[in-house]
Amino acid sequence: MNPKEYKEQLLQSLHKKFIDYPECPLAPLGRKQEVFGDGNPDASLVFIGEAPGAQEDALGKPFVGRAGKLLNKILDVLDIKRSEIFITNIVKCRPPGNRKPSPKEMKLCCPGLLEKQIKIIKPKIICTLGATALEGLLDLKQVKITKQRGKLMRYGNTPVIPTLHPAYVLRNPKALKDLTQDIQAALSYTDN
Ligand code: URA
Repeated sequence: MNPKEYKEQLLQSLHKKFIDYPECPLAPLGRKQEVFGDGNPDASLVFIGEAPGAQEDALGKPFVGRAGKLLNKILDVLDIKRSEIFITNIVKCRPPGNRKPSPKEMKLCCPGLLEKQIKIIKPKIICTLGATALEGLLDLKQVKITKQRGKLMRYGNTPVIPTLHPAYVLRNPKALKDLTQDIQAALSYTDN
């Protein structure tokens, strides 16, 4: 079994443990299913977003709505396939009305899962999308993402490039170049 197949198996058995996880505080609030993440289990680059939206909740895959389509376009421009990277979210369950998950929900929705996903995948770089993803990953409060974006941070030994959420860029098209530039910077860490 090659490393990719091995990691795939580990991720699958990890995800099984949380299917219909009843203790998640978001479980009784109307979400259809957990959205664990998608992509290459042996990826050098992992993207982390905030939470699944309506389309992600319906399909069980992250970033398949409008924000995901913009992310796909940027990856296309940078010549990266979605199948090369791994994408997940801070919380795996859709908060009602797409509201921002609370710090308690970030801790208790599939607790420890994101940390374990990162431990299995062992990416060379993590790129967080939006303030909530950075706050959740590094346990920070009220990040100003327009100030923090593009500045190298660390999650344990793994470098982190925080950037804007693609949904923000849909509302502020001028920020497209910042998002693209940060993803390009993240990609430079994947070179050997
Ligand atoms: N926004 C996110 O933060 N994550 C998704 O999966 C989709 C939209």
